[in-house]
Amino acid sequence: MQEFSDAIEKLEDDHDKVEALFERIKEATEKEKLDLGLEVANLVKIHMLLEEEFLYPALRGRGHDDKLTEGLVEHDAGKVLINDLLSPATDRDAFPAKVQVLGEQMTHHHKEEEESDGVFSMAREAGIDLAAMLNQMTARERELKTELKSSDLPEAEMNYVEISASQ
Ligand SMILES: [Fe+2]
Ligand SMILES: [Fe+2]
Repeated sequence: MQEFSDAIEKLEDDHDKVEALFERIKEATEKEKLDLGLEVANLVKIHMLLEEEFLYPALRGRGHDDKLTEGLVEHDAGKVLINDLLSPATDRDAFPAKVQVLGEQMTHHHKEEEESDGVFSMAREAGIDLAAMLNQMTARERELKTELKSSDLPEAEMNYVEISASQ
């Protein structure tokens, strides 16, 4: 028995969980902020992968490509912080501030995806099989979470934003 009826319900639920976690982090102690910050960074990373592998490609070429590109550039902006937060070399003193900024960026991004002309509405109106997409997403998510348990996931890959190597 599936918890959700389609892929969009699942993605909206992810948004709620991520936002609740960012709210909890605001009230957390410094030590908790570190653990919860790593947890939320991985959650957002997996959520973005699911959207990028299944949802966004299914909506390409339907007259709203600019909207999709904007969403993916917002993912890139979040990934810059996520890759930094999950790196062992991250500046621990600035960690809480980085988590805070990631939370602000993601709240804005979720709002855009959920608004009446956002990608979630586009998906509902496109007539694509969102129940089948849910099954694909659930299987992929299980795979990614298993991978995360045994080791770190690979660095999040950028869609459009170029990051030049430092040094
Ligand atoms: Fe997204
Ligand atoms: Fe999303």
